[in-house]
Amino acid sequence: MSSDNNNLRKYDDILEEDNHMPNWWLVILFGSIVFGFGYWLVYQTTESLPNPSAVYKADVDALKKARAAANPTSEEALALLAASPEAVAEGQKVYAGTCAACHGQNGEGLVGPNLTDKFWIHGNAGKDILKGVAEGFPEKGMPAWGPVIGDAKSRNVTAYVLSLKGKNLPGKAPQGDPVD
Ligand code: HEC
Repeated sequence: MSSDNNNLRKYDDILEEDNHMPNWWLVILFGSIVFGFGYWLVYQTTESLPNPSAVYKADVDALKKARAAANPTSEEALALLAASPEAVAEGQKVYAGTCAACHGQNGEGLVGPNLTDKFWIHGNAGKDILKGVAEGFPEKGMPAWGPVIGDAKSRNVTAYVLSLKGKNLPGKAPQGDPVD
């Protein structure tokens, strides 16, 4: 190491000038810090501007609703109904008046199969259940309900049956095959 004066030092033949950081560089540094703090303040600690992830979620929900409205009997639309407390509550009313006599007060089964266990004769996808409700299984003792209760109630009661998934109430012995 050699040194020509106090400010300039030479290491390995490279002269170190010890200048200030250029202003444009400092502006970017402190500007980023101020911006970052402001961003955190606005988006993370206050509700003054909509949070980007909330906006995204709202957009996705709106898209799902629009798709469900365009095709109300699709699996996606039925899953959305099953996630809606109002639709499930409506469906439960229909169920109590129309289905409970054969499937038990809470879906545990009576004449008809237990709708809360994981055994299904005709499948447990939304479209399977809706089809069963609409067309029935006349030769097995379940009438077609579609013409009686109409489309909207058929979908709501399907949402209610979907909401029973995983309840596994003790009741009628398993019928059909296990479905996850
Ligand atoms: C008169 C009696 C009766 C009524 C009322 C009735 N069901 Fe059923 N349901 C049955 C019988 C019996 C079966 C079994 C059909 C079979 O063995 O294939 C069945 C089957 C089903 C299945 C298919 C179960 C499986 O394991 O795949 C679903 C879902 C179902 N019913 C839903 C309903 C809903 C919802 C209502 C009301 C809208 C309803 N049922 C009303 C008698 C009834």
